Amino acid sequence: MPKKKRKIITGLDIGTTKVCAIIGEPDPHTRDIKVLGLGSNPSRGLKRGMVIDIDDTVESIRQAVYKAEEQAQISIKDVFIGLSGEHISSFNSSGVVEVTNPVRGVSRTDIARAIEKAKQLTTPFDREIIHCIPQEFVCDGQSGIRNPLDISCSRLEVRMHIVTAAITSAQNIIRCVQQAGFRVRGLLLQSLASSLALLSEEEKDLGILLVDIGGGTTDIALFYDGSVRFTTAIPFGGDNITNDIKLGIRVPMYDAENLKKKYGRALASSVDPEETVEIKTRLNNNPLKINRHYLAEIIQARVEEILLLAKERLEKNGLLEHSGAGIVLTGGSALLDGIIELSEKIFELPVRLGTPRGLKGISSAVTSPIYATGIGLVIYGNSDNYFPRLRPRNLFAWLMDVFRRFIDWEVFGQSWPPTNELG
Ligand SMILES: Nc1ncnc2c1ncn2[C@@H]1O[C@H](COP(=O)(O)OP(=O)(O)OP(=O)(O)O)[C@@H](O)[C@H]1O
Ligand SMILES: [Mg+2]
Repeated sequence: MPKKKRKIITGLDIGTTKVCAIIGEPDPHTRDIKVLGLGSNPSRGLKRGMVIDIDDTVESIRQAVYKAEEQAQISIKDVFIGLSGEHISSFNSSGVVEVTNPVRGVSRTDIARAIEKAKQLTTPFDREIIHCIPQEFVCDGQSGIRNPLDISCSRLEVRMHIVTAAITSAQNIIRCVQQAGFRVRGLLLQSLASSLALLSEEEKDLGILLVDIGGGTTDIALFYDGSVRFTTAIPFGGDNITNDIKLGIRVPMYDAENLKKKYGRALASSVDPEETVEIKTRLNNNPLKINRHYLAEIIQARVEEILLLAKERLEKNGLLEHSGAGIVLTGGSALLDGIIELSEKIFELPVRLGTPRGLKGISSAVTSPIYATGIGLVIYGNSDNYFPRLRPRNLFAWLMDVFRRFIDWEVFGQSWPPTNELG
């Protein structure tokens, strides 16, 4: 009997501080993903989700994938990538249509027409839709309908979450991946990718806020009633904390980063005001005495700023009350000592650390919030709604078309209909 072709999925998280490639293989029976390889390389050439140096980004991608391939003993070609940063913008939209045959009920074509209507609203020429995620349907004023197919009504409304990206910024990332020698099989908003690795269906139903504090950006996604309702990015992250330490304590960036990770706390009140630590810096050989309370004050100020900005955006949209199940903190900066306590104080909600779960293989290495996005991309690649074939030319237009047609229904919204049957 011929040997069955292996299904290999690679998630490529091109972050501001690191590029990380994760190679996974789903079990054909249980669909559990086994992690075969993990490669991480410092990221150069990216600032707040945007490419500022193509050559550096290409090299970081090559190195990260090479390391993962070495570990997995496999050579890969296709990757799933994540997008983030200020060039992404998201909004909720709705589309209303008259049902063609109210007696027979809503047809698939009616649903597709309603979705098209919702998408037509204000997409400027320099932006492309990367996700259209249906949240719910309203049939003759009756809201909260997850699957309107065959329901008798005369007026159908769809409420959707739409994510758009600046065409040039997305194109630059795709070009870097191609120049590194790989094909982009799909792209996904980073916070949505992380959500796949971290959140349970129950949490998404009850209401949960995902806050991914990376190096350059903080990505936020709010889920409730089973679907994503709000996504945004704040242009600050752990690198700003390190920079504040550099300026406040007057040490080089390298030492500031080490200080943050080794002695940093996000809650100054929990540090003895008299406690000092001694470190050797790259500037001179004499050890430098540093007051830990002062270090914590610097860190707390920046973390508070980031979290308060997140809170403000949610409050402005009247959404904070929807995080019934609390908050999940992820991204490298979620490892900061005391950040969970500080977040609980600021949001007055339960907060937990988001570490990817339920993986097999070299799982202990990937159960860090740093890898949530990469793991989520692999999970996304393994989902049913993704099965397009690559066309060699005009990749960007093709990808965008794929995302128009293959709406992220199965993954982030409701479970029907299969998106390829729409539009
Ligand atoms: N133990 C730790 N304590 C405090 N901060 C940490 C720790 N480990 C990593 N970090 C910080 O996490 C940040 C990197 O996080 P992450 O790997 O999630 O970022 P990224 O995905 O590359 O960036 P982005 O998502 O913003 O593009 C850095 O600022 C780093 O200093
Ligand atoms: Mg990240």
